[in-house]
Amino acid sequence: MSRSDPPIADRVLLTGGSGRLGRELLRLLPSIVAPPHAALDITRPETIEGQIERIRPDLIVHAAAYTDVVGAVREKAVCWQANVVGTRNIVQASLRHGLRLVHISTDYIFAGTRGMYLEDDVPGPVRNYYALSKLVAEETARLAAGALVIRTSFRDREFPYPVAYTDVFTSQDYVDVIAPEIALAVRWVHRITDSTLHIATERKSVFDLARRRRPDVSPGSRRDAAVELPEDISLDTRRWRELRAELATPEQGVH
Ligand SMILES: NC(=O)c1ccc[n+]([C@@H]2O[C@H](COP(=O)([O-])OP(=O)(O)OC[C@H]3O[C@@H](n4cnc5c(N)ncnc54)[C@H](OP(=O)(O)O)[C@@H]3O)[C@@H](O)[C@H]2O)c1
Repeated sequence: MSRSDPPIADRVLLTGGSGRLGRELLRLLPSIVAPPHAALDITRPETIEGQIERIRPDLIVHAAAYTDVVGAVREKAVCWQANVVGTRNIVQASLRHGLRLVHISTDYIFAGTRGMYLEDDVPGPVRNYYALSKLVAEETARLAAGALVIRTSFRDREFPYPVAYTDVFTSQDYVDVIAPEIALAVRWVHRITDSTLHIATERKSVFDLARRRRPDVSPGSRRDAAVELPEDISLDTRRWRELRAELATPEQGVH
């Protein structure tokens, strides 16, 4: 990373702009262009091609995915098509047009048995089908030249459930906390030489995270979940924190 490079001024094409993360990124980076799902369906290469011809981006931020962890167990084909075939289509378009790719991945690619995973730790064995599809997607994304894989974890701005697990540990945070960090990485992507970054916050239980925005939440256990959940999926975020400190110096004007 060189301190003299200017911040990103490129045209950015975002997939998944109507999603939780996508909506926040659009608010934070107004120059991003995010065609709706109907106009850019990642499972239909001709729609990707059409949008690239129209927008002429320099960078693709790929945040579209099938994200229903419980639903993926019964809708494997739909999940695979969006997460794996869709990512393959995005990679092929990136290669064809010489576009850099930022791929949004997940902490779920790890086993989630010990926590504090580093970027270079070996992934798997994954705990559910969504996680499997995202692991394959991540490895597919790496085939794009200079791809940056961002592993993250976030939830809606509010905690929606009356019960939260005390025995699931995570670096997850609320999307309005995580999205500004991802926006920062996107904005300065040309200075980032790492191929993988963990962007999340400190390790805590889901119950402790829930209490921050829902003080009356009750404690519960992962044994009651509808899908197998990892006990400790937390990420080591040191690499991003060090990079971020450098990017966010006052002379860079990054906020
Ligand atoms: N939420 C989490 O806890 C979490 C954690 C770690 C990583 N991630 C990753 O972060 C990214 C964003 O997640 P999110 O929670 O913001 O997602 P989300 O709210 O579920 O939104 C998914 C987005 O993908 C779009 N999409 C789905 N299939 C598509 C297709 N075939 N073609 C084009 N667009 C399609 C959806 O469009 P429509 O809704 O308009 O159809 C929507 O904009 C994903 O890659 C996800 O795996 C999420």
